[in-house]
Amino acid sequence: MRLFDVRVAVRDGNLVRSPYQTRAVFRRVLGLIARKRAADTWLARRLRRPLQSASSSTPEALHYKRLEKEWQDRVGADMLDVPHDQPGALAVYERQFERLFAVLDLAPEGPIVEVGCGKGHFLERLREARPRWRRLLVGRDVSRAVMSLPPAGLAGCMADGEFLPLRGGSAAAVLFAGSLHHLIDYAAALREAVRVVRPGGLVVVYELLTSWFSHAMHRLLDPIVFRFCGAYASPIDMRYKKDFREAVVAGVLREQSVSLAKATHTDFLAYPLTGCYAGSVFGRDRCLMERLLAAEERIQRLPVLGAVGRALAWRFTLVGVKAP
Ligand SMILES: C[S@@+](CC[C@H](N)C(=O)[O-])C[C@H]1O[C@@H](n2cnc3c(N)ncnc32)[C@H](O)[C@@H]1O
Repeated sequence: MRLFDVRVAVRDGNLVRSPYQTRAVFRRVLGLIARKRAADTWLARRLRRPLQSASSSTPEALHYKRLEKEWQDRVGADMLDVPHDQPGALAVYERQFERLFAVLDLAPEGPIVEVGCGKGHFLERLREARPRWRRLLVGRDVSRAVMSLPPAGLAGCMADGEFLPLRGGSAAAVLFAGSLHHLIDYAAALREAVRVVRPGGLVVVYELLTSWFSHAMHRLLDPIVFRFCGAYASPIDMRYKKDFREAVVAGVLREQSVSLAKATHTDFLAYPLTGCYAGSVFGRDRCLMERLLAAEERIQRLPVLGAVGRALAWRFTLVGVKAP
Protein backbone atom coordinates (compact mmCIF):
# COMPACT_ATOMS: atom_id res chain seq x y z
CA MET A 1 0.00 0.00 0.00
CA ARG A 2 1.43 3.36 -0.99
CA LEU A 3 1.36 5.73 1.94
CA PHE A 4 -0.42 8.63 0.32
CA ASP A 5 -2.64 6.62 -1.98
CA VAL A 6 -5.80 7.05 0.05
CA ARG A 7 -7.93 5.27 -2.52
CA VAL A 8 -6.81 2.02 -0.98
CA ALA A 9 -6.82 0.89 2.61
CA VAL A 10 -6.39 -2.41 4.41
CA ARG A 11 -9.35 -4.31 5.81
CA ASP A 12 -8.83 -7.80 7.24
CA GLY A 13 -5.49 -7.92 5.46
CA ASN A 14 -7.06 -7.17 2.03
CA LEU A 15 -6.77 -3.97 0.04
CA VAL A 16 -10.09 -2.20 -0.37
CA ARG A 17 -11.08 1.10 -2.01
CA SER A 18 -12.00 3.95 0.27
CA PRO A 19 -14.42 6.68 -0.89
CA TYR A 20 -11.62 9.28 -0.65
CA GLN A 21 -10.02 10.27 -3.95
CA THR A 22 -6.35 11.21 -3.82
CA ARG A 23 -6.51 14.32 -5.96
CA ALA A 24 -9.59 15.70 -4.26
CA VAL A 25 -7.99 15.22 -0.81
CA PHE A 26 -4.73 16.89 -1.86
CA ARG A 27 -6.59 19.81 -3.51
CA ARG A 28 -8.53 20.28 -0.30
CA VAL A 29 -5.36 20.11 1.85
CA LEU A 30 -3.63 22.73 -0.32
CA GLY A 31 -6.73 24.95 -0.12
CA LEU A 32 -6.75 24.63 3.65
CA ILE A 33 -3.04 25.53 3.91
CA ALA A 34 -3.65 28.65 1.80
CA ARG A 35 -6.60 29.67 4.00
CA LYS A 36 -4.57 29.04 7.14
CA ARG A 37 -1.73 31.25 5.91
CA ALA A 38 -4.27 34.02 5.20
CA ALA A 39 -5.81 33.60 8.65
CA ASP A 40 -2.36 33.80 10.28
CA THR A 41 -1.55 37.25 8.89
CA TRP A 42 -0.99 40.05 11.39
CA LEU A 43 -4.23 41.83 10.41
CA ALA A 44 -6.37 38.68 10.66
CA ARG A 45 -4.94 37.95 14.12
CA ARG A 46 -5.68 41.51 15.29
CA LEU A 47 -9.29 41.33 14.07
CA ARG A 48 -10.04 37.94 15.64
CA ARG A 49 -12.11 37.79 18.84
CA PRO A 50 -9.81 36.84 21.74
CA LEU A 51 -10.55 33.36 23.07
CA GLN A 52 -10.59 32.34 26.72
CA SER A 53 -10.89 29.04 28.51
CA ALA A 54 -14.37 28.23 29.87
CA SER A 55 -15.30 28.46 33.54
CA SER A 56 -15.27 25.10 35.29
CA SER A 57 -17.86 26.04 37.92
CA THR A 58 -20.98 26.25 35.74
CA PRO A 59 -23.51 23.37 36.10
CA GLU A 60 -22.60 22.20 32.60
CA ALA A 61 -18.86 22.19 33.32
CA LEU A 62 -19.36 20.33 36.60
CA HIS A 63 -21.46 17.75 34.75
CA TYR A 64 -18.70 17.31 32.14
CA LYS A 65 -16.04 17.01 34.85
CA ARG A 66 -18.00 14.11 36.37
CA LEU A 67 -18.46 12.48 32.96
CA GLU A 68 -14.75 12.92 32.20
CA LYS A 69 -13.65 11.24 35.43
CA GLU A 70 -16.02 8.31 34.80
CA TRP A 71 -14.83 7.95 31.19
CA GLN A 72 -11.13 8.19 32.11
CA ASP A 73 -11.61 5.55 34.84
CA ARG A 74 -13.65 3.15 32.70
CA VAL A 75 -12.24 3.64 29.18
CA GLY A 76 -9.34 6.11 28.96
CA ALA A 77 -7.05 4.41 31.51
CA ASP A 78 -6.85 1.21 29.44
CA MET A 79 -6.27 3.10 26.17
CA LEU A 80 -3.16 4.81 27.56
CA ASP A 81 -1.11 1.64 26.92
CA VAL A 82 -2.08 1.35 23.24
CA PRO A 83 0.69 3.52 21.69
CA HIS A 84 3.24 1.86 23.99
CA ASP A 85 2.17 -1.59 22.78
CA GLN A 86 2.41 -0.73 19.06
CA PRO A 87 6.07 -0.69 17.92
CA GLY A 88 5.64 2.10 15.34
CA ALA A 89 3.60 4.35 17.63
CA LEU A 90 6.14 3.69 20.39
CA ALA A 91 8.95 5.00 18.17
CA VAL A 92 6.97 8.22 17.71
CA TYR A 93 6.19 8.60 21.41
CA GLU A 94 9.83 7.91 22.32
CA ARG A 95 10.93 10.72 20.00
CA GLN A 96 8.37 13.09 21.56
CA PHE A 97 9.51 12.10 25.05
CA GLU A 98 13.19 12.69 24.15
CA ARG A 99 12.36 16.24 23.07
CA LEU A 100 10.65 16.85 26.42
CA PHE A 101 13.56 15.27 28.38
CA ALA A 102 15.90 17.77 26.68
CA VAL A 103 13.60 20.62 27.78
CA LEU A 104 13.48 19.35 31.38
CA ASP A 105 17.29 19.23 31.47
CA LEU A 106 17.04 23.03 31.67
CA ALA A 107 14.98 22.98 34.88
CA PRO A 108 16.64 23.98 38.17
CA GLU A 109 17.15 21.37 40.92
CA GLY A 110 13.96 19.99 42.44
CA PRO A 111 10.89 17.85 41.80
CA ILE A 112 9.27 17.49 38.39
CA VAL A 113 5.49 17.29 38.34
CA GLU A 114 3.45 15.91 35.46
CA VAL A 115 -0.20 16.97 35.53
CA GLY A 116 -2.49 14.48 33.76
CA CYS A 117 0.25 11.84 33.94
CA GLY A 118 -2.05 8.90 33.16
CA LYS A 119 -0.21 5.67 34.03
CA GLY A 120 3.11 7.49 34.29
CA HIS A 121 4.59 6.30 30.97
CA PHE A 122 6.45 9.59 30.55
CA LEU A 123 7.79 9.73 34.10
CA GLU A 124 9.00 6.12 33.95
CA ARG A 125 10.88 6.78 30.72
CA LEU A 126 12.32 10.00 32.18
CA ARG A 127 13.68 8.06 35.15
CA GLU A 128 15.28 5.51 32.80
CA ALA A 129 16.73 8.22 30.55
CA ARG A 130 18.20 10.26 33.42
CA PRO A 131 19.43 7.59 35.90
CA ARG A 132 21.72 10.04 37.73
CA TRP A 133 18.94 12.44 38.63
CA ARG A 134 18.01 12.49 42.30
CA ARG A 135 14.85 14.50 41.67
CA LEU A 136 11.43 13.48 42.89
CA LEU A 137 9.16 12.63 39.93
CA VAL A 138 5.54 13.35 40.76
CA GLY A 139 2.36 12.52 38.82
CA ARG A 140 -1.14 13.94 39.26
CA ASP A 141 -4.25 12.73 37.45
CA VAL A 142 -8.01 12.52 38.06
CA SER A 143 -8.17 8.98 36.78
CA ARG A 144 -7.53 5.65 38.50
CA ALA A 145 -4.63 5.34 36.02
CA VAL A 146 -2.47 7.29 38.50
CA MET A 147 -2.62 4.32 40.88
CA SER A 148 0.00 2.65 38.63
CA LEU A 149 2.64 5.14 39.79
CA PRO A 150 3.36 4.17 43.43
CA PRO A 151 3.95 0.45 42.60
CA ALA A 152 6.40 1.64 39.92
CA GLY A 153 8.29 3.70 42.53
CA LEU A 154 6.92 7.07 41.42
CA ALA A 155 5.04 9.60 43.56
CA GLY A 156 1.48 9.73 42.27
CA CYS A 157 -1.88 10.73 43.62
CA MET A 158 -5.33 11.60 42.33
CA ALA A 159 -5.86 15.31 41.90
CA ASP A 160 -7.62 17.71 39.61
CA GLY A 161 -5.07 19.74 37.65
CA GLU A 162 -6.98 22.93 38.44
CA PHE A 163 -6.30 22.47 42.18
CA LEU A 164 -2.89 20.92 42.78
CA PRO A 165 -2.28 19.67 46.33
CA LEU A 166 1.28 21.02 46.28
CA ARG A 167 3.01 23.86 48.11
CA GLY A 168 3.69 27.08 46.18
CA GLY A 169 7.23 27.22 44.78
CA SER A 170 7.88 23.54 45.53
CA ALA A 171 8.51 22.20 42.00
CA ALA A 172 11.33 22.75 39.52
CA ALA A 173 9.02 22.11 36.58
CA VAL A 174 5.38 21.36 35.86
CA LEU A 175 4.61 19.51 32.64
CA PHE A 176 1.36 18.99 30.75
CA ALA A 177 1.82 16.38 28.00
CA GLY A 178 -1.46 16.04 26.14
CA SER A 179 -3.52 16.66 29.27
CA LEU A 180 -4.09 20.43 29.44
CA HIS A 181 -6.93 20.39 26.90
CA HIS A 182 -8.78 17.95 29.21
CA LEU A 183 -8.99 20.68 31.86
CA ILE A 184 -12.04 22.84 31.18
CA ASP A 185 -10.59 26.00 32.74
CA TYR A 186 -7.12 25.44 31.39
CA ALA A 187 -6.18 29.05 32.16
CA ALA A 188 -6.81 28.32 35.87
CA ALA A 189 -4.74 25.13 35.61
CA LEU A 190 -1.84 27.10 34.12
CA ARG A 191 -2.03 29.68 36.92
CA GLU A 192 -1.97 26.79 39.39
CA ALA A 193 1.12 25.35 37.66
CA VAL A 194 2.86 28.74 37.86
CA ARG A 195 2.04 28.93 41.59
CA VAL A 196 3.59 25.50 42.21
CA VAL A 197 6.78 26.20 40.23
CA ARG A 198 9.67 27.92 41.99
CA PRO A 199 11.20 31.13 40.58
CA GLY A 200 13.40 30.19 37.62
CA GLY A 201 11.44 26.94 37.20
CA LEU A 202 9.67 25.76 34.05
CA VAL A 203 6.08 25.37 32.93
CA VAL A 204 6.14 23.04 29.92
CA VAL A 205 3.07 22.54 27.74
CA TYR A 206 3.17 19.91 25.00
CA GLU A 207 -0.27 19.94 23.50
CA LEU A 208 -2.42 19.56 20.45
CA LEU A 209 -2.93 22.45 18.10
CA THR A 210 -6.59 23.21 17.52
CA SER A 211 -8.03 25.63 15.02
CA TRP A 212 -10.64 25.54 12.27
CA PHE A 213 -7.73 24.27 10.16
CA SER A 214 -6.99 21.29 12.42
CA HIS A 215 -10.72 20.46 12.60
CA ALA A 216 -10.93 20.42 8.82
CA MET A 217 -7.80 18.24 8.62
CA HIS A 218 -9.25 15.85 11.18
CA ARG A 219 -12.51 15.59 9.24
CA LEU A 220 -10.45 14.73 6.19
CA LEU A 221 -7.89 12.34 7.68
CA ASP A 222 -9.62 10.68 10.65
CA PRO A 223 -11.85 8.46 8.51
CA ILE A 224 -8.68 7.09 6.89
CA VAL A 225 -6.56 6.69 10.04
CA PHE A 226 -9.41 5.52 12.27
CA ARG A 227 -11.07 3.36 9.63
CA PHE A 228 -10.19 0.13 11.34
CA CYS A 229 -10.08 1.12 14.98
CA GLY A 230 -12.06 3.27 17.35
CA ALA A 231 -11.24 6.85 18.23
CA TYR A 232 -9.94 8.33 21.49
CA ALA A 233 -12.39 11.05 22.45
CA SER A 234 -13.32 11.73 26.06
CA PRO A 235 -16.41 13.79 27.02
CA ILE A 236 -14.28 16.92 27.49
CA ASP A 237 -12.49 16.27 24.17
CA MET A 238 -15.88 16.24 22.47
CA ARG A 239 -17.32 19.31 24.17
CA TYR A 240 -14.36 21.61 24.96
CA LYS A 241 -11.35 20.65 22.80
CA LYS A 242 -12.42 23.01 20.04
CA ASP A 243 -11.92 25.97 22.44
CA PHE A 244 -8.37 25.02 23.37
CA ARG A 245 -5.84 27.48 21.92
CA GLU A 246 -2.08 27.84 22.01
CA ALA A 247 -2.54 31.64 21.99
CA VAL A 248 -4.55 31.47 25.24
CA VAL A 249 -1.87 29.27 26.86
CA ALA A 250 0.86 31.72 25.81
CA GLY A 251 -1.26 34.71 26.96
CA VAL A 252 -1.93 33.27 30.43
CA LEU A 253 1.75 32.40 30.95
CA ARG A 254 2.82 35.93 29.99
CA GLU A 255 0.18 37.43 32.31
CA GLN A 256 1.75 35.41 35.14
CA SER A 257 5.22 36.89 34.50
CA VAL A 258 6.41 33.72 32.83
CA SER A 259 8.73 34.39 29.90
CA LEU A 260 8.38 32.11 26.91
CA ALA A 261 11.73 30.50 26.18
CA LYS A 262 10.62 28.17 23.42
CA ALA A 263 7.62 27.74 21.12
CA THR A 264 7.63 25.07 18.42
CA HIS A 265 5.13 23.36 16.12
CA THR A 266 5.93 19.72 15.41
CA ASP A 267 4.46 16.30 14.55
CA PHE A 268 3.00 16.60 11.07
CA LEU A 269 3.94 13.29 9.43
CA ALA A 270 4.37 10.30 11.73
CA TYR A 271 2.27 11.20 14.79
CA PRO A 272 -1.04 11.80 12.95
CA LEU A 273 -0.79 8.28 11.53
CA THR A 274 -0.36 6.58 14.92
CA GLY A 275 -4.05 6.98 15.73
CA CYS A 276 -2.84 8.22 19.16
CA TYR A 277 -4.43 6.24 21.98
CA ALA A 278 -6.81 4.41 19.64
CA GLY A 279 -3.93 2.88 17.66
CA SER A 280 -3.85 2.40 13.89
CA VAL A 281 -2.61 0.01 11.22
CA PHE A 282 0.35 2.35 10.62
CA GLY A 283 1.27 2.39 14.33
CA ARG A 284 2.18 -1.30 14.14
CA ASP A 285 5.07 -0.70 11.74
CA ARG A 286 8.22 0.60 13.50
CA CYS A 287 10.26 0.76 10.30
CA LEU A 288 7.63 2.93 8.55
CA MET A 289 7.36 5.28 11.53
CA GLU A 290 11.14 5.64 11.89
CA ARG A 291 11.37 6.57 8.21
CA LEU A 292 8.58 9.10 8.60
CA LEU A 293 10.26 10.60 11.67
CA ALA A 294 13.56 10.93 9.76
CA ALA A 295 11.73 12.52 6.81
CA GLU A 296 9.94 14.89 9.19
CA GLU A 297 13.24 16.04 10.69
CA ARG A 298 14.73 16.62 7.22
CA ILE A 299 11.63 18.50 6.03
CA GLN A 300 11.62 20.72 9.13
CA ARG A 301 15.06 22.05 8.18
CA LEU A 302 13.98 23.04 4.64
CA PRO A 303 12.79 26.63 4.09
CA VAL A 304 9.52 26.20 2.13
CA LEU A 305 8.59 22.62 2.93
CA GLY A 306 9.51 23.24 6.57
CA ALA A 307 6.92 26.04 6.70
CA VAL A 308 4.31 23.73 5.14
CA GLY A 309 5.18 21.09 7.75
CA ARG A 310 4.74 23.60 10.58
CA ALA A 311 1.38 24.67 9.08
CA LEU A 312 0.30 21.02 9.20
CA ALA A 313 1.70 20.40 12.71
CA TRP A 314 -0.51 18.58 15.20
CA ARG A 315 1.37 19.59 18.32
CA PHE A 316 2.92 22.66 19.93
CA THR A 317 5.47 22.96 22.72
CA LEU A 318 5.62 26.05 24.90
CA VAL A 319 8.30 26.37 27.53
CA GLY A 320 7.82 29.14 30.08
CA VAL A 321 10.36 30.24 32.69
CA LYS A 322 8.94 31.74 35.90
CA ALA A 323 10.48 35.10 36.73
CA PRO A 324 13.26 34.70 39.35
C1 LIG B 1 -4.41 12.19 26.74
S1 LIG B 1 -4.16 11.59 28.34
C2 LIG B 1 -2.41 11.87 28.53
C3 LIG B 1 -1.83 10.98 29.58
C4 LIG B 1 -0.32 11.08 29.78
N1 LIG B 1 0.17 12.43 29.79
C5 LIG B 1 0.39 10.23 28.76
O1 LIG B 1 1.08 10.83 27.91
O2 LIG B 1 0.28 9.01 28.80
C6 LIG B 1 -4.90 12.86 29.31
C7 LIG B 1 -4.86 12.59 30.79
O3 LIG B 1 -5.39 13.74 31.46
C8 LIG B 1 -6.12 13.28 32.58
N2 LIG B 1 -7.06 14.31 33.05
C9 LIG B 1 -8.28 14.63 32.55
N3 LIG B 1 -8.83 15.62 33.27
C10 LIG B 1 -7.95 15.92 34.24
C11 LIG B 1 -7.95 16.86 35.33
N4 LIG B 1 -8.99 17.68 35.54
N5 LIG B 1 -6.88 16.89 36.15
C12 LIG B 1 -5.83 16.07 35.96
N6 LIG B 1 -5.77 15.16 34.97
C13 LIG B 1 -6.80 15.10 34.11
C14 LIG B 1 -6.80 12.03 32.08
O4 LIG B 1 -7.24 11.20 33.14
C15 LIG B 1 -5.72 11.41 31.22
O5 LIG B 1 -4.94 10.49 31.95
